[in-house]
Amino acid sequence: MTARLQINKKRLYEQAARIQNNVNILAVVKNNAYNIGLDLAFDTFFQAGIRAFATTSLIEAVKLRKKSDKIYIFLMNPSTEFETLRNNNIAMTLPSLTFYETYKNDLKGIEVHLEYKNLLRRSGFDYAAEMQKVLEENAVTVSGVWTHFAYADEINSPEYEVEKQNWLTMLDTIHASERNFRFIHAQNSASYMRDGIFPSHTHARLGILLYGSRPYHELAPDTAPSVITLCTNVIQTLELKQGESSGYSSAFIAENDCKIAICDIGYGDGVLRTRAKYDVMIHGKRYPIGALMMSHMLITVDQDVTTGDTVYLYNDSLRVDDYTHLGVGANSEQMSALNHYSLRLEITG
Ligand SMILES: Cc1ncc(COP(=O)(O)O)c(C=O)c1O
Repeated sequence: MTARLQINKKRLYEQAARIQNNVNILAVVKNNAYNIGLDLAFDTFFQAGIRAFATTSLIEAVKLRKKSDKIYIFLMNPSTEFETLRNNNIAMTLPSLTFYETYKNDLKGIEVHLEYKNLLRRSGFDYAAEMQKVLEENAVTVSGVWTHFAYADEINSPEYEVEKQNWLTMLDTIHASERNFRFIHAQNSASYMRDGIFPSHTHARLGILLYGSRPYHELAPDTAPSVITLCTNVIQTLELKQGESSGYSSAFIAENDCKIAICDIGYGDGVLRTRAKYDVMIHGKRYPIGALMMSHMLITVDQDVTTGDTVYLYNDSLRVDDYTHLGVGANSEQMSALNHYSLRLEITG
């Protein structure tokens, strides 16, 4: 197996340090840190000065606590494992008035951040008045307020301005800036790049910008230097005659006599089928993918390509965010697919 995922730790560090210099980051490290690897991402971000981390998984939150008692951990999904939250000093979202009414006694000793539902309509309080009620009752420790935008990544959508205004109005209504919240956070990578940090906000809650992709394509590529390389080697080349096929159910049929290269990487390693509509790169030259199987990929090549050559699917020229723009899938979708169990992991930089 030659397929490997290389992660550039130096760039990961430099990007985190550069942004943390300008704004306090609440680093989103959910789903194994967008598949960069939770340990690697945590160690690198900590080294870069980041001290606040957010995830959706209690298991990941506990792992983070085991790594350091000097960090703030925010669980973005609600959990009823109150003992675990308390014992590990993990702050959690308060996702609704109903959750509050049901569990306010269990939440003693746990910091919560009130979540505002807004246009994402996934979770959160509907109205400022409900949030006000929780604040006035003083039955739980509210150390933050937050929301998540549904349209920040769509640069031309008018809804972003609406959800932004809803949020800022809600903050005014509950007098957030006078309440000394330890955390006021709303902005993902796209929102932060569009607007800078909002007034009175303590943190930008960033994911993809830390992991080497631009949240939207209008930004310059060096806004987020790429941190992943996905590559493999040609394990064999074959000459096909016109009309001959290769792969299951004639997945590839030679239109003319041609040369193909077989590589040991496939969708089982995390190469999305949509990615296979586009080229790979060998010796700086692009070649089309002819067929994608679970553990193999077939490329149509020329006489410059031979067994053992390195084949790139992602690198500095084949950026994840460029494929996002082409419709392959969201940045996070392409990264989440990468299979850490089958790919050889290499740390570079
Ligand atoms: C609640 C929440 N906040 C922040 C982020 C980070 O978003 P991005 O990766 O666009 O910065 C995510 C990512 O999906 C999220 O779900």
